[in-house]
Amino acid sequence: MGYAEIYRESIENKEQFWADQAANINWHVPPAEVLSYDESGHSNWFADGRLNMSNLCLDAHVEAGNGLRPAIIYESPATGKSQVITYKQLLDSVSKFAAGMRNLGVGEGSTVIIYMPMIPQAVIAMLACARIGAIHSVVFGGFAPHELAMRIDDARPKLIISASYGIEFGKRIPYKELVDAALEEAKHKPDYQIYYRREEGFDNLGGRNELDFMALMKCGTVGCREVSSTHPLYILYTSGTTGTPKGIVRDTGGYATALKYSMEHFYDVRPGEVFFAASDIGWVVGHSYIVYGPLLHGCATVLFEGKPVRMPDAGTFWRIVQKHKVTHMFTAPTAIRAIKKEDPYGDYVKKYDTSSLRHLFLAGERCDTDTWQWISSLLNKPVTDHWWQTESGWPMLGVMASISGQELKPGSAGRPVCGYDIRVLDEDGAELPHGTEGNIAVKLPLPPGCLTTLWENEMRFRKGYFDRYPGYYLTGDSGYRDEEGYFYVMGRIDDIINVSGHRLSTGEMEEVVAKHAAVAECAVVGIADELRGQRPVALIVTKDGVQTDEAVLEEELIALVRGKIGPVAYFKNVIVVKRLPKTRSGKILRKTICKIADGVPYIVPSTIEDTGVLDELTDAFARRSMGIGFRAIDAA
Ligand code: COA
Ligand code: AMP
Repeated sequence: MGYAEIYRESIENKEQFWADQAANINWHVPPAEVLSYDESGHSNWFADGRLNMSNLCLDAHVEAGNGLRPAIIYESPATGKSQVITYKQLLDSVSKFAAGMRNLGVGEGSTVIIYMPMIPQAVIAMLACARIGAIHSVVFGGFAPHELAMRIDDARPKLIISASYGIEFGKRIPYKELVDAALEEAKHKPDYQIYYRREEGFDNLGGRNELDFMALMKCGTVGCREVSSTHPLYILYTSGTTGTPKGIVRDTGGYATALKYSMEHFYDVRPGEVFFAASDIGWVVGHSYIVYGPLLHGCATVLFEGKPVRMPDAGTFWRIVQKHKVTHMFTAPTAIRAIKKEDPYGDYVKKYDTSSLRHLFLAGERCDTDTWQWISSLLNKPVTDHWWQTESGWPMLGVMASISGQELKPGSAGRPVCGYDIRVLDEDGAELPHGTEGNIAVKLPLPPGCLTTLWENEMRFRKGYFDRYPGYYLTGDSGYRDEEGYFYVMGRIDDIINVSGHRLSTGEMEEVVAKHAAVAECAVVGIADELRGQRPVALIVTKDGVQTDEAVLEEELIALVRGKIGPVAYFKNVIVVKRLPKTRSGKILRKTICKIADGVPYIVPSTIEDTGVLDELTDAFARRSMGIGFRAIDAA
């Protein structure tokens, strides 16, 4: 069967379709019920099934005689380390660490925060939580202590697991100090903090509740605790439109089924092959395709601690592909742009043997046609852009690699993945014709693997995703569909921006900036950036009578955002203006600001009070060399 038939089957006969997929994983108790609804009308997949994710990812492979296969290939150009960990070794470490956690009183339903660099111990901690039914919440290391503190207060973990340090372009990130600062700020105090000591002689574990990761592994071993299919495997916080992050909750059975399906049918991977997702375990890509997807499917997963460039050079990815015979690679377009900038003729690509590679997958942001063409012609392998989100947990749009009847169209994010009924709607919820841009929504029910709620915030879950269009899930992205059913995702409809493939809230940045004593009013917008896709820029109106030097204010605000949100925000520019462009009702015209900043033509909004403000803004961006042609300016 080709794409059209299989896709139709997945939508029109969804229960049978997903029951067949669920039969491909090892359940302790196979589900009798496929799709059911709770009292609020939300769908649950396989509600009466019972299983354990750590069992599927580890024990099942060892029991099948594949214990000596590589599970994790750890590559850390940053520290010069390279290590292969087999399934048997990983199972051993996970069951030991899980026993240690259980000795500390962690059990089914306990929450655990993991704030760690890209080291095998981070994966061990995740799988150990899954083993005993604890719910992990991994926080990306590039977030500042304040962000960590917010997540601690929301998830109320029993433990925090961290490491002595992380490494970024050769610079050591003092994780212990960051955790200390977060705990200072957080109201909730976890029972214990566990640190993995990366270096000899790290003896900074003074507190009564500060324990050594390795010491915890000396408490015997523990088996898997079977949990219900709907049991939360993890909470993953992502940016919303306000300063408070949203805790996406993922179930166990639906997620396992969807990931297994996607490994086989979307990515076209076979057990034993080598999957290299160059992302971070702090993001959804890391959860689904560094950890759970490849391990569920019996693949080797590359755990890469480093950067695609300058660590040591722009050949890092291809060197790893050659060394480990990587078959499937996944990264963000921004990483390819960073490589292209340093290796425009692809000398490094040509220097290494990349013949093992069967596919390159790109996601996280829209892939521009130039980047797609550059890497496609150099690798001479299919390069697939695909679209999804933290909320979905696995691809929503793309070209399903194992199914015929689709083509790679540059600029397009592909067609709906089996299970997703995707529509483009106008403001009133009517479907738009081909070629017309509108809000991208998914007709309910969502397939298995998608978010089941927001952590202890059902109200925000409903309001944010379902109230706008009854019967649909609102993705927050806009785009259009062509006549052949291929989608083009154009950007967000809310205040979320995408910087180097990292999802960030401009609303949150505004909340931080507005706290500065000199700021009367501000707007933070995402403007085009050649390398990063987007970057934030703050427009500031200062308080009357406040004498401020723009450069000094800029420095202070950069420090403020870096200190509160983290370096990952890449907040580097502040422009002082006399006023902000607004509608008569006082709404800031963000889209118009972005267009002016990017130097692209715009229609003067009919709702604007005084068009003079637009000229002032054009001058302001030009004064900071951010007017027309900004796209050509190097982000550095
Ligand atoms: N811990 C601590 N700090 C971190 C961090 C982490 N895990 N990740 C990023 N940072 C810091 C960086 O050190 C940098 O700090 P600086 O301003 O002091 O230099 C800042 O956050 C911005 O980082 P980043 O946006 O990553 O920029 P970069 O110049 O270091 O690297 C790229 C640029 C394009 C090479 C890099 O962003 C990249 O590889 N992106 C791919 C993203 C990705 O995989 N996304 C997931 C979706 S698939
Ligand atoms: P995150 O939840 O961090 O994975 O970010 C999800 C958001 O990133 C989506 O809602 C999109 O705005 C954007 N995104 C991800 N992949 C793509 C893609 N292939 N094309 C366009 N935008 C994308």
